[in-house]
Amino acid sequence: MENIKELAEEYKSKEPQEIIKLALDNFGDNIAISFSGAEDVVLIDMAVKLKKDVRVFSLDTGRLHRETYKFLDNVRKRYGVKIEIQFPEKEAVEKLVNEKGLFSFYTDDHKECCGVRKVQPLRKILSTLDAWITGQRVDQSPSTRADVPVIEDDGFFGSPEHKLTKFNPLSHWTSKHVWDYIRDNVVPYNELHMHGFTSIGCEPCTREILPGQHEREGRWWWEDATKKECGLHAGNFIKSNI
Ligand code: ADX
Ligand code: SF4
Repeated sequence: MENIKELAEEYKSKEPQEIIKLALDNFGDNIAISFSGAEDVVLIDMAVKLKKDVRVFSLDTGRLHRETYKFLDNVRKRYGVKIEIQFPEKEAVEKLVNEKGLFSFYTDDHKECCGVRKVQPLRKILSTLDAWITGQRVDQSPSTRADVPVIEDDGFFGSPEHKLTKFNPLSHWTSKHVWDYIRDNVVPYNELHMHGFTSIGCEPCTREILPGQHEREGRWWWEDATKKECGLHAGNFIKSNI
């Protein structure tokens, strides 16, 4: 895809459905939705209305909540989509937990575990794709996601030899937009949302939030707010100079 910056400018005030259509029309079977949370089912709901056999993948870190596994399977059944589950490399997980135990992220920073369980599997699936679609939004994190464009050249997981385009169709949506869409379209959601969870990642690294807290405060809560990225969207980190 050429002229990504111009396209991002042109599409930034368009509806997410128009951005998804542009993505699917341009990349056919070489694009997939990266799925884990509420935003991503909104994307799936919109995408299957345009293309029944849209590709979806999810990174199973091995540390997800029981409720999240149920949710993934509900989505699979509801939309009739195959969810391409990506597992971490067995040897890398064994090395990490045998050397540092099962909870090293509480003391050593979460980057190492996220690297093994999320980033390496993501890199593997993205090497087979030309584009991906994520549910990132600007207001999820004022410190790290303030500049998320609706379309970008993914220079972090892509390369000059293998161009990779990243679509963030909900970039300018707020949490309210997402949840209004979920209710209006009876979209399935993770039942943990009924118990005080907002942003949901791995079980040991996610907790409920209190009224008035920012939506990602329950993620890696023991770390500084400006570090709350796991490497899946490493480009944001570089952009925000952290
Ligand atoms: S994270 O980097 O902090 O974990 P977050 O939970 O905010 O990310 O999700 C942002 C987007 O990243 C999601 O909308 C989704 O597209 C993608 N994503 C996050 N976690 C996963 C996962 N386990 N599998 C696939 N995609 C994911
Ligand atoms: Fe590991 Fe926590 Fe990252 Fe999950 S979120 S991969 S358990 S550090």
